[in-house]
Amino acid sequence: MALSTEYWMSSWKAGDIVFHNDFIYPMLQKHAEKLFDNQSNCRVFVPLCGKSLDMKWFADLGHSVVGVDVSEVGILSFFEDQGIEYVKESVPEIQGATRYKSKDGKITIYKANLFSMKKDIIGDFDCIWDNGSLVAINKQDRQKYVSTLTSLMADSCRYLLIALDFDPIKSGVLHPFDVPNSVVKELYEPTCTLEKLDASSYRVHGREAVYYETVFLMKPK
Ligand SMILES: C[S@@+](CC[C@H](N)C(=O)[O-])C[C@H]1O[C@@H](n2cnc3c(N)ncnc32)[C@H](O)[C@@H]1O
Repeated sequence: MALSTEYWMSSWKAGDIVFHNDFIYPMLQKHAEKLFDNQSNCRVFVPLCGKSLDMKWFADLGHSVVGVDVSEVGILSFFEDQGIEYVKESVPEIQGATRYKSKDGKITIYKANLFSMKKDIIGDFDCIWDNGSLVAINKQDRQKYVSTLTSLMADSCRYLLIALDFDPIKSGVLHPFDVPNSVVKELYEPTCTLEKLDASSYRVHGREAVYYETVFLMKPK
């Protein structure tokens, strides 16, 4: 199975966004100290951001956030739901991209394909928060995904990743792709050091599957 960007855009249009959480992700709050590593005013990258509330949480802590998502519906709904005023800008350097920027400049979201994000255009980052992102990438694109993200890491970057493993047959379409810890290691170990910070498991009402979540902290080697 492969999911296209059109699939994601039509899911947003249909309001089919079971992945969205109406809360700040608990594992982010629990491990934020390690992510920030005593630094203030961090530049935080949120790939495949959707309308994650975590972006506002980062901004409220004084960090600046850059997100990217293909869906304009999701991006507009983020700014509207959060009551954040924004400006819309064209981005001639990236084909087909538009930039939405909060008026205080703390949150910028690109409506673009993640794979078009380049360091010379969006800069590099002190922190990356990857929740619902690697796990939404088609298996055949994982290597390209990791190359894109690692190319955006500043030398002292910390990258917090939520990996999710489950039996896809028992899960149905609740989560796109299972990412076992062995795959995380295979993908990131060539360029990053990995530390396993946490793990938990949960069930979802009406599903047979057990979801195993692992939190990794990565740093460039
Ligand atoms: C599983 S959702 C997770 C959203 C968000 N991280 C969260 O936890 O709520 C995946 C998101 O990635 C976006 N997306 C999928 N493929 C993309 C791509 N190649 N470039 C940019 N965004 C993409 C979708 O529109 C969707 O909002």
